[in-house]
Amino acid sequence: MAGQCPAAISIAGISMTENTGNGHPGIDPSDMTREQAASELERLAAAILHHDELYHGGDAPEISDAEYDALRRRNLAVEQAFPDLVREDSPTKRVGYVALDKFEKVRHAIPMLSLDNAFSDEDVRDFWDRIVRFLKLETRPELTAEPKIDGLSLSLRYEGGRLVSAATRGDGTVGENVTQNARTITDIPTVLAGDKIPEIVEVRGEVYMTKQAFEMLNRRMEEEGKPQYVNPRNTAAGSLRQLDSAVTAQRPLKFFAYAWGEMSEVPEPTQMGMVEQLAKWGFVTNPLMRVFTAPEELLAHYHAIEEERASLAYDIDGVVYKVNELALQERLGFVARSPRWAIAHKFPAEKAWTVLKGIDIQVGRTGALTPVARLEPITVGGVVVTNATLHNEDYIKGIGNDGQPIRDGKDLRVGDTVMIQRAGDVIPQVLDVDLEKRPADAVPFEFPTTCPVCGSHAVREVNEKTGRADSVRRCTGGLVCSAQMAERLKHFVSRNAFDIEGLGDKQVAFFYNDPDLRVRNPADIFRLRENDAKSLKKLKDKEGWGATSAAKLFDAIDARRNVELRRFIFGLGIRHVGEQTAKDLARYYGSAEALTVAMKRLADGDMAAREDLISIDGIGNTVADALTEFFAEDGNMRVYEELLEQVSPEPPEQADTSSPVAGKTVVFTGSLERMTRDEAKAMAERLGAKVSGSVSAKTDLLVAGPGAGSKLKKAQELGVETIDEDGWFELVGA
Ligand code: IVH
Repeated sequence: MAGQCPAAISIAGISMTENTGNGHPGIDPSDMTREQAASELERLAAAILHHDELYHGGDAPEISDAEYDALRRRNLAVEQAFPDLVREDSPTKRVGYVALDKFEKVRHAIPMLSLDNAFSDEDVRDFWDRIVRFLKLETRPELTAEPKIDGLSLSLRYEGGRLVSAATRGDGTVGENVTQNARTITDIPTVLAGDKIPEIVEVRGEVYMTKQAFEMLNRRMEEEGKPQYVNPRNTAAGSLRQLDSAVTAQRPLKFFAYAWGEMSEVPEPTQMGMVEQLAKWGFVTNPLMRVFTAPEELLAHYHAIEEERASLAYDIDGVVYKVNELALQERLGFVARSPRWAIAHKFPAEKAWTVLKGIDIQVGRTGALTPVARLEPITVGGVVVTNATLHNEDYIKGIGNDGQPIRDGKDLRVGDTVMIQRAGDVIPQVLDVDLEKRPADAVPFEFPTTCPVCGSHAVREVNEKTGRADSVRRCTGGLVCSAQMAERLKHFVSRNAFDIEGLGDKQVAFFYNDPDLRVRNPADIFRLRENDAKSLKKLKDKEGWGATSAAKLFDAIDARRNVELRRFIFGLGIRHVGEQTAKDLARYYGSAEALTVAMKRLADGDMAAREDLISIDGIGNTVADALTEFFAEDGNMRVYEELLEQVSPEPPEQADTSSPVAGKTVVFTGSLERMTRDEAKAMAERLGAKVSGSVSAKTDLLVAGPGAGSKLKKAQELGVETIDEDGWFELVGA
């Protein structure tokens, strides 16, 4: 986010005129010697401290804000070029005048989740039906509808009615402490109003900038000859994450409260009631929020808000629907990272016409060859678009995934005038082509049949069921294809996989390509420290690294040797094994050892192992095939075992080990009356049980409702303990 704001970019090449010491103000940090960098940092530390003291001591400043910002940026640029020269008294370390990317981390007491999206009226009706079905409701539920503010979410914590911290969403679990900056936003009360305020109150909502404020700011930037900001949302994000809260204070940020996190007491039983309570505590809430009792009413409100969109003072990108009753929200719970009780109905994407300048082929981590459209830059909905996805070979030809024509069968050629669509943050798409504008010399695009990265054959698998070729062409180079390896490594260290601090895409690419470090597979990452110790050319001597940063990285890597099993599995990057499947596998097998045994048997074609795998609720033939293929590949197995020599994945947290069903394998069958099947599964898992879809010798308990058939019979044959739904509630004491 901050990268979008001019204050954070263009750090190189700032020429300083004043000289408060023996620095080297004219030189680009990347061209500096270590001695020059050290003396420059010394000069800057003294200069910034001097100006800070003037500013915070209330004395008249000697330089303008812009000059002051330039000093800080210069300091940061030199520090980034020479991380090991960062001084103890560095201005970036000083609290109070915090530096970019140096915010303290805050762990959210309750994670900040995201919302699932709906794109059509149909999606909204499905959402409604899902809720009714899940809860087996006899009467109509109430749902709220309110604008989806296009800003950034912020969590505010009050203790004893006083604001104690403000944190950005971050990755949902850990955010950045921006308390000082949040205090400058007038919509955010520092002390809650009214009485009967719970001891702990966490209020969540959206920080945003009005369209007018954004335009005024940009006009000022223009007058000062500075680069313009992209859109209100990025500007708000950049402003909230300012180094100096005095800068934030000058930016007119606003805040809508719409949700909450930890609460020592929840004063109201409904979403609407809670939002009204937030308003009584002194927050600004959105005036367009309403309660409805039918999907058609939600849709009518959505369209009314859509009509009003342009005249609203702030940007919105859709309408959020939420189940009103909090008790029902609780019963609905969550799937992965979004609540089942809410959805964001997004406004349709924005479109524009431009010229297709070229088609590049990218090779993804799974070997998929993806064509990317290079476009004549065009602004779509306030954002400059230069690339768009073309999905696959057939898409370029005008054939859809189902083999039917798309765009009336019109193909895409370099030189064509094409229609681009952009929706939210998703990659823009090429929707249509104007044949009348096609140049006479445009030729059909020839899709490569070899991998542009490693030269291996690229093939389209034939789908067993349909007998049709898969729309995706894939490189067969597996572990020899560097495109895949680098991508696999990036996936491996990514946030939802191993999540190694300080090891992002950039560093992985660097390690992968570095002739001394040669990190070629996931196990190599964990051998980095050891290999570095043996190597003559050490990481600390590499450009951009130093003793401190290298040691810090090695420590961060070591810290992840006890990664959770689900992350370990997800990190392997196996086709069709996403986060949820990885979690299901981790929960079912319970340990890396058990998983290894099962996967070896699977790869050896052991049918019992396969049946066992497929018995896991949510796992079918596709995942089983993908796992079989992965573990049958010797190269993969070798790396997998090497990796397990380096790491010891931790078994999944047992939800509730004291429960009578903890560790047991449970099957539900027949119709359940007091809970739906989904609820039953969620409840059993919460209590530490594994839920299976089929009865086998491994089943510990069968919960059979009326109408139970073959599963009940099999359980009786196998002597599996069988109870009814009431028996279940008695057993678990609910
Ligand atoms: S509710 C558990 N309500 O949208 C759900 N979110 O895509 C909590 N957002 O991260 C979110 N307006 O930053 C909610 N009226 C609204 C919202 C809203 C904007 C943002 C929020 C969230 C994102 C999810």
